[in-house]
Amino acid sequence: MKEKRLITAALTYVNNIPHVGHIVGCHLPADIFARFCRSYGYDTTFVGGSDMHGTPSMVTAQEIGVDVETLTSTLHEVHKKIYSRLGISYDIYSNTHTDTHEEITDDFFASLHKRGYISEGTASVFYCEHCDTFLPDRFVRGTCPKCGNKEASGDQCEKCDSLFSPAELIDAVCKTCGNKAVLKETKHIFLSLSKGEKMLEEYIESRKDVWRPHVYSEAKKWLKEGLKDRCISRDIKWGFKVPLEGYEDKVFYVWFDAPIGYISITKELSNEKYQDIWKEKNGKIYNFIGKDNIQFHTVFFPTMLLEEGHYNTAYNVVGLNFLNFEGKKFSKSKKIGVFCNAFLNDDVNVDVDTMRAYLTTIIPENKDTDFKWEEFKNNCNSELVGKFGNLFNRTLNMVKNYFNCHLDTDLSVLELGDADQEVVRSIQEFPAKIASAFENVELREAYKLIMNYAVGCNGYIEKSTPWSLMKEGKTKEAEKVLYLALNVCASLCIVASPIMPDKTRRLWQEQLGLSGDPTSPDFWQRASQMNIPSSHTIGEVSPMFERLDDIRLNEIKDILSEPFDIKEYFENKD
Ligand code: MF3
Ligand code: ZN
Repeated sequence: MKEKRLITAALTYVNNIPHVGHIVGCHLPADIFARFCRSYGYDTTFVGGSDMHGTPSMVTAQEIGVDVETLTSTLHEVHKKIYSRLGISYDIYSNTHTDTHEEITDDFFASLHKRGYISEGTASVFYCEHCDTFLPDRFVRGTCPKCGNKEASGDQCEKCDSLFSPAELIDAVCKTCGNKAVLKETKHIFLSLSKGEKMLEEYIESRKDVWRPHVYSEAKKWLKEGLKDRCISRDIKWGFKVPLEGYEDKVFYVWFDAPIGYISITKELSNEKYQDIWKEKNGKIYNFIGKDNIQFHTVFFPTMLLEEGHYNTAYNVVGLNFLNFEGKKFSKSKKIGVFCNAFLNDDVNVDVDTMRAYLTTIIPENKDTDFKWEEFKNNCNSELVGKFGNLFNRTLNMVKNYFNCHLDTDLSVLELGDADQEVVRSIQEFPAKIASAFENVELREAYKLIMNYAVGCNGYIEKSTPWSLMKEGKTKEAEKVLYLALNVCASLCIVASPIMPDKTRRLWQEQLGLSGDPTSPDFWQRASQMNIPSSHTIGEVSPMFERLDDIRLNEIKDILSEPFDIKEYFENKD
């Protein structure tokens, strides 16, 4: 039976739309991994969605003057479209404001309550007398008690990544009106994390060899600090009502319901998968997340799951670092970065796979990385055009020019010299090496190996000089070289398909003239085989990758440098 894998990407807040940093720091690596898993033969499910609740969307809705329901449901569709345009192959992209999600969240809560992990108590929450409302989380702004950052909001500081209780925030003011915020006692519900500490510790230990070292050590650090009870209700209107008497005006804290979204979205896709993966615990769950989410995915959510007791926990939490832009932080307001809104246009003149390939080289797997336009250009020209594309082009062109697009080769009677044997060996060996990089979620390494594989075959052609063989009348020899090179091309289509799904499918079908689809499930095993039939006619030959000059590069830069203006979007929307 096939191993089952559930791959999740962090559910995105819909107070904004994604820029390239969000893509490279979560959706793309999750997608590449999911595509690899399908191809390799795992029974793969890839889920994602929008994190609808919480104060970030409320703040934005207030700023632009639409109600939060309209804001989030509209932006949810925008997110969904952008991911699909970028080839992110979610089996389902849903959101956390559905009936299924509310039902599962309520059940989850009821179960925690019944098992004694929920307590009632009071909390000091900021309140704005001017606006006559409570100011949870991001509705209040002040100075971080740990690092002095003046832009800390609510209970967390984005500069030093620490979490604190709101009462510790210094000089708190209401974000809406700027008036002083005062603390007020109100009653709330709390989740006891300390009662689950023992279970959590065992869980984290059991993940030691699978999680990346920085993920494991961060989890350990939080564990060492001791787990405090967390308030899981909020005095706001947006969210799911706490189903408990006396809490009618309160909703669940966004980080309580959001991760449960992984479960409910799986259920929305398929009840069978939900039962199987989450309930029966058949299969491995991989959470792809940004580094600011590590605590929630290694401590908070697993504790919730362990205390609830009926659900599976993650096998791997793949924590990714951040992407900068030309050495600076992405900033929408300063227009620093590479944005995704252009992909909303049907006819955007930017090649998606060229972008995916470059982004793969800068996935922040181990440290923060940088997007650089010059590197984007170099990756396109020297890697995609110069190595990968070149191999396809020259091979296909020679088949076309020397053999009128048709090869008749019987490998079993061919005499293979050293160089031929070496290239045959590369077909037998490279796919396994590449698979093991993908399997370990070392996606940059996988990309490098793919390029090396192509370079090796380019070297083989250089050495074998089919053009001289033709001149010398050794046509059978030349045909053999091209036949072997064509097989490397076919194999490359399969192993590169998780990164460049569109290009590889088209190369396979339109140019190599093969049937089937290298991006379809269970195709991987064919990567180490000879895929070109002994009597074979290739398809149309044309360069698959476009060499970028500075004029074209600037054109692409212009297209992708304009940030999304939410306000304008809502004003112009029919
Ligand atoms: N919305 C959160 C963020 O963008 C991530 C939520 S992940 C989930 O930082 F697990 F809670 F869903
Ligand atoms: Zn106010």
